[in-house]
Amino acid sequence: MKKVFSGVQPSGTLTIANYLGAMRQFVALQHEAECYFCVVDLHALTVPQDPAALRRQTLDVAALYVAVGLDPKKVTLFVQSHVPAHSELAWLLQCQSYFGELRRMTQFKEKSQGQESVSTGLFTYPTLMAADILLYQTDEVPVGEDQKQHVELTRDIAQRFNHRYSETFRVPEPVIPEVGARIMSLDDPTKKMSKSSTVAGSYISLLDEPNTARKKIMRAVTDSGSEVRHDPETKPAVSNLMEMYSILSNLSLEAVRARYEGQGYGPFKKDLAELVVTALEPIQKRYSELRTSGELEAILADGAARARTAAAPTLRIVQERLGLQPAR
Ligand code: AMP
Ligand code: TRP
Repeated sequence: MKKVFSGVQPSGTLTIANYLGAMRQFVALQHEAECYFCVVDLHALTVPQDPAALRRQTLDVAALYVAVGLDPKKVTLFVQSHVPAHSELAWLLQCQSYFGELRRMTQFKEKSQGQESVSTGLFTYPTLMAADILLYQTDEVPVGEDQKQHVELTRDIAQRFNHRYSETFRVPEPVIPEVGARIMSLDDPTKKMSKSSTVAGSYISLLDEPNTARKKIMRAVTDSGSEVRHDPETKPAVSNLMEMYSILSNLSLEAVRARYEGQGYGPFKKDLAELVVTALEPIQKRYSELRTSGELEAILADGAARARTAAAPTLRIVQERLGLQPAR
């Protein structure tokens, strides 16, 4: 069976973009692959975090994984820091990757720009992500567009290692959805929707109250003209809303255009708001149950145990290939 790995950072409440770009794919893949889904708390430490908030948000993300429809019996759901092999392999891979290639990572450039001090972890973060993926001999990595470059770097590191030390890692492929891979901000369609934004109206949280979500959609910026048409070049704002509509309604972009022909933006946004609210409702209900029932701790303990077992053979082979002494 093919293997799938993906991770989400516990750095703030997840947005509808995380769902549309990544998590929706996870739910579909759980039926056809051996899946590992991780709350990547070590990745969140690349920027300052409040310890209590990080602890809470780690459980929030774990609960949302289940709430969007992942079955913790079917998939291995765990917290990255509970499986020490991730940090161990990350170091070994750092020594196989180059300063120059890490410096080219767009996300590093964006996140470090204008910052007075940038942690070394923010710079080496892609090697930790490579370790996450390669430990499980992953075939496919479902992610949004912004992570494609990191998965490509992972492929380069895997191929380099295989070439130097003989066949060790499976070389993974990124899986990026055709529609929804880059959901843009509601107040500015030139920026991607992000949970770290300081403008609350720019994103819809998976935990937004129905009326809050409705208002955010109704206030989302649109483009000049009144036609509901998908053209990211000249109509970036409307195109972004159409992508959300298309995914949530299971209609093609063309079918969405035809449905609102001659009606202007108003009715389209109103219906989109209802689609969003209807999608969020069952997720929020399940989320609240999970956050109060105490089920999560057992789910995560079981996931960590399974992940540790699955990760161990790869780490051991890598240590052997590199010439590390066997422990006595
Ligand atoms: P993060 O919130 O950065 O941990 O991202 C978790 C997953 O959501 C990754 O696969 C990202 O590529 C995806 N993602 C984040 N932001 C967006 C966005 N604006 N549009 C589509 N996918 C996204
Ligand atoms: N870097 C990813 C993000 O910020 C999260 C992540 C960490 C990840 N490790 C991963 C995604 C491994 C896919 C596979 O979104």
